[in-house]
Amino acid sequence: MKVELSLNFDSVDLVALRRRRSEKWTRHPADVLPAFVAELDFAPAHEIGEVLVDAIANGDLGYANPSGSRLAEAFAGFAERRWDWRVDPEAVVAVPDVMVGVAELLRLLTKPGAGVVITTPVYPPFFSVIAEVGRRVIEVPLLDGDRRERLPVQQIEAAFAEGAEALLLCNPHNPTGYVAGREELLALGEIVDRHDGVVLSDEIHAPLTLEAASHVPFCALPAAAAEAAITLTSATKAWNLAGLKCGLAVARSPRMREALRSLPVDLHDRVGHLGVLASVAAFTRAEPWLDELRAYLAETRRWFPGLLAERLPGVVFHPGQATYLAWLDCRALGLGADPAAHFLTKGRVALAPGSDFGTLGRGFVRLNLGTTRSLIEEAVGRMASALA
Ligand SMILES: Cc1ncc(COP(=O)(O)O)c(C=O)c1O
Repeated sequence: MKVELSLNFDSVDLVALRRRRSEKWTRHPADVLPAFVAELDFAPAHEIGEVLVDAIANGDLGYANPSGSRLAEAFAGFAERRWDWRVDPEAVVAVPDVMVGVAELLRLLTKPGAGVVITTPVYPPFFSVIAEVGRRVIEVPLLDGDRRERLPVQQIEAAFAEGAEALLLCNPHNPTGYVAGREELLALGEIVDRHDGVVLSDEIHAPLTLEAASHVPFCALPAAAAEAAITLTSATKAWNLAGLKCGLAVARSPRMREALRSLPVDLHDRVGHLGVLASVAAFTRAEPWLDELRAYLAETRRWFPGLLAERLPGVVFHPGQATYLAWLDCRALGLGADPAAHFLTKGRVALAPGSDFGTLGRGFVRLNLGTTRSLIEEAVGRMASALA
């Protein structure tokens, strides 16, 4: 489906961005171009802006009522239209954000000290959340033998055979943009079921799957494979609402529905009210905006390798099929384990250091492509100047 762009994703204004007060725009001095956080620089969808402005004008800033706001129904409608995934709204709970959901579910579904498998390199808070709840990280590297990441299904099986209790899956994958295939997910579901484990499937980037790939929600797999799975997701990456604090945990099997019912009773009070309102607007009214964003990002992904080849020929990049993140292999540049430190000091551009994503990330950086092509050119230009 070809999406005609009516919104101007090219019209971001750096002076206005520098007035933002989120971490991205305030962590570094003003001469640094920030490209480290997974955040969009674009203006919000107007359907979301309207709802938020109206709530503020009306002093509607109290506690959230996710069920009264029909958050679960809004997500279920979106999931069915996008992925043909029939979600029972009764099997959805609101959580303050995806990582809080992960923490609480690990506490509930695994024993203290239990091994939790993650496929690395991966989103850095996967390491810290497992430590925070007193569980143990079992790192299993993504396979890229044929220069395409794949899930290390056999190694995951071996980890469960040695006693791991949970798999914390990142699909689509941050930082590589890898979208797991149905067969891989089915195999994982069987493994986890056979070893009596659980799958927490973080699908926060799923709405940002590009057209060439299809996202398969873990809980949409046949019942046996999804028996031990809970999907965690939110509108916050795709529609850029991270500061508003609203995520969702979705179950399928009776056992996992029961787990969701056993989450701490006050959890839904800790969800952000504006986050709920904005997420409902996103899921019900802002799909056209999402499709225009995906079309813009797809074009950026087609254009970006040429820019790299011209300005940073030593850097290796394999375009993924989702997210707005670029995982850049800088090992040939001779900058050591932490090229991000060099690019920051010499180029005044802040990238996410690859080693934060696990030891396999040494020598890599993650660049955020969720911005205009002119700001991406600026970031890459600063990286190139750091090498001069
Ligand atoms: C894979 C993944 N999970 C979770 C998050 C954070 O989500 P939340 O703010 O809802 O905890 C991010 C943010 O970039 C992410 O990339």
